[in-house]
Amino acid sequence: MNMYMRKVVALSLILVVMAQVALAADELKPVVLPKPQTEGGQPLMQVLKDRHTSRDFSPRKLPDQILSDLLWAADGINRPDTGKRTAPSAVNWQEIDIYVALADGLYLYDAKTHTLEPVLAEDLRALTGGQAFVKDAPLNLVYVADRSRMGKASEADKDMYSAADTGFISQNVYLYCASEGLATVVRGSVDRPALAKAMQLRPEQRIILAQTVGYPKDENEDKDK
Ligand SMILES: Cc1cc2nc3c(=O)[nH]c(=O)nc-3n(C[C@H](O)[C@H](O)[C@H](O)COP(=O)(O)O)c2cc1C
Repeated sequence: MNMYMRKVVALSLILVVMAQVALAADELKPVVLPKPQTEGGQPLMQVLKDRHTSRDFSPRKLPDQILSDLLWAADGINRPDTGKRTAPSAVNWQEIDIYVALADGLYLYDAKTHTLEPVLAEDLRALTGGQAFVKDAPLNLVYVADRSRMGKASEADKDMYSAADTGFISQNVYLYCASEGLATVVRGSVDRPALAKAMQLRPEQRIILAQTVGYPKDENEDKDK
């Protein structure tokens, strides 16, 4: 094969790979979440009493309204005039992105449009953690810091602030789950290199924590199988 033909073959292969990647995201459609219900819920003191970690999940899918309310509570926009969020962030960098791993694929939560933007038409739930429940629970959130939004902070400060900012979001999820009777666990035990590769993250994007959410496992569920 001469040089020209080699270049043509190499270019064709690159185009095929690019087309496959584009197709994978194309197969998923954006999910415009219903308007979040921002009223009601349990009183704050009750929610604080009930907040706890649970690792027993039902595989039952979460309805879009629950997803909508959960993501708004996690880090939605609560002051539209300024675009500020339910969770604080250092310097208002808003550097934490919430990736949403569902059975049908991976999405990115866009707080401005309150939409799930398609990322990959692949079920990545099993890769979001080493614990057995992660693959069957309906939802795993992956908190990813985009360090390119963190100005000129030192690397150590970027580590510290992105971890702190993730903690606030995670606690919002815990409180929402306590209010709604949902089960949740935040998880540091994640194979970050493997998950970052599967999620096709850029080098400046760092996985901080993951968090599983679902209905509590019904004690009769195992017996029914
Ligand atoms: C930063 C962080 C990382 C955690 N990582 C894991 C984890 O990888 N797996 C897990 O099952 N629980 C994990 N947890 C949950 C803790 O084990 C749990 O919060 C702790 O046992 C206290 O229980 P409580 O949340 O019910 O108060 C983590 C919690 C935090 C705050």
